[in-house]
Amino acid sequence: MEIVILETAEQVARRASDMVCRQLARKPDSVLGLATGSTPVALYAELIRRHHHGEVSFRAATTFNLDEYVDLPPTHPQSYRHFMDHVLFHHVDIDPSRTHVPRGDAPNPVQEGPAYEALIAAAGGIDLQILGIGTDGHVGFNEPTSSLASRTRIKTLTRQTVEDNSRFFSPEEEQPLLAITMGIATILEARRIVLMATGVNKAGAVAAAVEGPLSAMCPASCLQLHPKATVILDRPSASALRQTDYYDWVLRQQDEIARRHGDPR
Ligand code: PGA
Repeated sequence: MEIVILETAEQVARRASDMVCRQLARKPDSVLGLATGSTPVALYAELIRRHHHGEVSFRAATTFNLDEYVDLPPTHPQSYRHFMDHVLFHHVDIDPSRTHVPRGDAPNPVQEGPAYEALIAAAGGIDLQILGIGTDGHVGFNEPTSSLASRTRIKTLTRQTVEDNSRFFSPEEEQPLLAITMGIATILEARRIVLMATGVNKAGAVAAAVEGPLSAMCPASCLQLHPKATVILDRPSASALRQTDYYDWVLRQQDEIARRHGDPR
């Protein structure tokens, strides 16, 4: 696992954006796995900025989002489809028909999981997956005790996640308690993974994911199994890690190699 600790959330967004842009430069028809939540919003804003400066194009790209609330139609203002349209898709040159978000309002939500898996497989699998992390260590909506072998399916959200996400819902709105999420095995099949975290409220989850045991109790610890996983953190979200000197030292060596010989990451 590559651990990149930067000073600010803006630097985290720029670094993640560098990775997305390098991926699209290498392979313009890349399949990107995308995440919702507050953390990746700065990444999407940076990608839009670079797109407007002609630095990146999504024309040939395909995207798959991690998850969606069950029962919310795509037009619902709190749906993740609506969120993605507004924070990214409407502002770049992506073909809307190649942007995928699980259908929360599928007639049979149980069948939506295997159908979504089939779509990902038909697109050739995910080249680069963006992840956030929940305060309980979830990735996508794979809550603690989710099987490390899980596939896309319906999950019941924890009370903690419902509480964390209540800030997006007004008091009179009914907040969904179920979601369709890519599974942990689905996520681990991505060829590269970038997990972003910012803010001290993520410090415990980040430390458990990076330095704790591989455990279904911290779903993000699944990244320990992945050969090309990068964790990009700001200082506050890295504050409970024990080996920060080592990560900083490794990063300096890697950046120096990239400066001299080109970046293989
Ligand atoms: P956040 O959510 O970026 O809004 O903190 C992250 C997550 O729940 O995966």
